[in-house]
Amino acid sequence: MFKKISHEMALDATRDEQARQNFVASLRAHVLGDMAETMRERYFDHYEQDGDAAPDGPTVHDRMQDDAYFRFYSSMRYNAQEMVFRSVTPMVDRNLDALIDQSAAIRAAHDQQPELRAEFAVPDSVSKIDVHLAPGSYHTEYAPGDVAAGAVYDNSINVFAFNQMGEDISDIGHTMANYVRLKLPELSPQRILDCGCTIGSNTVPWKKVFPQADVHAIDVSAPLLRYAAARAASMDADISFRQMNATELDYPDNSFDIVFSSMFLHELPLKDIRAYLAEARRVLRPGGLLLTMELPSNASMAPYEQFYLDWDCYYNKEPFYKPFRDQDYRELCTTAGFPADSFFEFAAPRYTYMDEADFLAGLNEQNGFDDHTGTLRDGLRWYAFGSRKPIQE
Ligand SMILES: C[S@@+](CC[C@H](N)C(=O)[O-])C[C@H]1O[C@@H](n2cnc3c(N)ncnc32)[C@H](O)[C@@H]1O
Repeated sequence: MFKKISHEMALDATRDEQARQNFVASLRAHVLGDMAETMRERYFDHYEQDGDAAPDGPTVHDRMQDDAYFRFYSSMRYNAQEMVFRSVTPMVDRNLDALIDQSAAIRAAHDQQPELRAEFAVPDSVSKIDVHLAPGSYHTEYAPGDVAAGAVYDNSINVFAFNQMGEDISDIGHTMANYVRLKLPELSPQRILDCGCTIGSNTVPWKKVFPQADVHAIDVSAPLLRYAAARAASMDADISFRQMNATELDYPDNSFDIVFSSMFLHELPLKDIRAYLAEARRVLRPGGLLLTMELPSNASMAPYEQFYLDWDCYYNKEPFYKPFRDQDYRELCTTAGFPADSFFEFAAPRYTYMDEADFLAGLNEQNGFDDHTGTLRDGLRWYAFGSRKPIQE
């Protein structure tokens, strides 16, 4: 059922494990598909039938709190989320010693080691929360040289997203890198930084699309970075992985053409978002591009969509999601020192699911954000915003 993984860190599931993962993926598809659609119809039939339109997402949430179908949907979705990890961790656990050895061997063979720090303070926003219910969050190490968190992430994404993330779960990276190649050809990036890279699945496409570029990727988690380095090396992608907090980038001023991140900002407390954006501006060269793949802001969505997307903040151990999406993204960028008139946002179709002409046509279509933006369903489009550092201060 799942798209083939084309790197050497791929694990073979037993038939039982495969069956369990297929079941959980189907359950998630059902909850986020049919059940979500029924819940939406029910909301408008029961709570807005007299034109009593809710002004915002929290009002929709208040109205739905005691609704039996919403409670059923939420408990199904919460349990399906836990089952994603339960369907994958036994496979990783069973193979862990071999995976640790194999990843070390791949890194040694390609001379591609992540730069890890002996005394590194993992931020509380990662270490004190099992982020989106992932046991041990991103950073926990179970053995010397551990890569378990990376293997769990790699194998859980297709279960979580029921194959909506493309080959090697890289569609977001391909979509964003090809957006830059096609829409901003003058940028011709020589140095690219990916922040909060996790296993580098959306970093590798940047190296594939811009093979001449020096690509760097940072994260706070050592087991993720060890896994990411081996994974990228086995895909012939020469990328420098470093353990670093994005709020304090250990790079000189004016040193990157692009600072990219995907699904990253919403996992930071607001003060860290602001610190990261200021750091991104500092390390970008004049004219350089900040590109941030995320979900759209609440203000740009209809009240029901706000409510629907805020679910993760209330029920999925993602406490910073709603505070982030409540921000005005242009204001976040301008406060970090980017010019207001360089702010842009778009919703792109998925690059690896179509040919380039259709992708370009899709990019040139409407720019509004609706229930297809960032939502795992047919017609899915990836949202991003960004800014340019001024050429002259
Ligand atoms: C949702 S994941 C990002 C997913 C990844 N970019 C992708 O496209 O698959 C968030 C990542 O950010 C990392 N992270 C969290 N806080 C960070 C920080 N302050 N600096 C750098 N990385 C951080 C986490 O360890 C985690 O790997």
